[in-house]
Amino acid sequence: RPRVLSGIQPTADSFHLGNYLGALRNWVQLQETHDAYYMVVDLHAITAGHDPAVLRQRTRVGAAQLLALGLDPERCTLFVQSQVPEHAQLAWVLGCITGFGEASRMTQFKDKSVKQGADRSSVGLFTYPILQAADILLYQANLVPVGEDQRQHLELTRDLAQRFTSLFGPAFTVPEPYILKGTAKITDLQDPTAKMSKSASTPAGIIELLDPPNVSAKKIKSAVTDTGREIIFDQANKPGISNLLTIYSALTGRTVDDLVAAYDGKGYGDLKKDLAEVVSEFVAPIQEATRGYLADPAQLDKQLAVGAEKARAVAAATLRTVYERVGFLAGV
Ligand code: TYM
Repeated sequence: RPRVLSGIQPTADSFHLGNYLGALRNWVQLQETHDAYYMVVDLHAITAGHDPAVLRQRTRVGAAQLLALGLDPERCTLFVQSQVPEHAQLAWVLGCITGFGEASRMTQFKDKSVKQGADRSSVGLFTYPILQAADILLYQANLVPVGEDQRQHLELTRDLAQRFTSLFGPAFTVPEPYILKGTAKITDLQDPTAKMSKSASTPAGIIELLDPPNVSAKKIKSAVTDTGREIIFDQANKPGISNLLTIYSALTGRTVDDLVAAYDGKGYGDLKKDLAEVVSEFVAPIQEATRGYLADPAQLDKQLAVGAEKARAVAAATLRTVYERVGFLAGV
């Protein structure tokens, strides 16, 4: 079976619809056909400042949501990044073959460091994509399901894998991104040209999976829409309505064309009202299952420990090859 790997940061109290439609939905599907490794990336979550107790809680809530969305520990390996020390170890080696300029060109780093101020942003934020490359290469992943915003990090990962091979010999599989066009960039409800983002959007711009239904309904009803009244899919001129149609279509399995035909002659308010209903039906069972997993944190931690042990066996084998190739003495 080909391998798939992906990760998500526990940097908010809930994952959002962009995370789900851009990535997590594909994680669930790919566990059926692939040897799948999925993780909550808590090492990445400390690059921009954090509170320890909040991080610990968000890591558990994150894992619980992934289980609630349908990740099945019998079908995939679900783990927490910091419980597999090889991630940090490989990141060091990869950092030593990454150019300073190359790392400086990562647009997510540029965006975030501009926002935080260059002097305030951490070295960890700068080396973040190198750690991400280590995450992927440790598992010899063939495929990495992510949203559009991760494409550049995947390119860097591929470059580093190939560079390592030409410097020291083969150790890695060169991975391919798995980015599904229609839902690769879900946008902010309040600013429909920007992506829906845990760090950059206002609360009103994000539909969180754990939002109570009346809260998400309110957000959808006050979503910024476009001038005019026609419900048509036109991302350039009607980004707001197009985003709502994308979400609606993805959650129901109805095509955008079908929705456009069904709303012919109706108004934005009708579409929003129905979408609020669709969202609330979609999140209800997820919220209930998430609460269920969180009700027994000891059991959840145990499950994650089992995942980490399985992940570690694969990661350790890759790291051994890497250490040997770069000329370190054999491990004791
Ligand atoms: P993160 O935690 O920001 O997001 C998790 C996943 O959700 C996708 N995503 C979106 N997709 C569509 N529309 C949106 N508005 C939207 N917002 C987020 C992201 O593309 C991502 O797939 N660096 C990664 C985490 C990571 C990782 C990895 C991913 C660490 N190591 C190894 C893959 C492989 C990140 O910050 O994702």
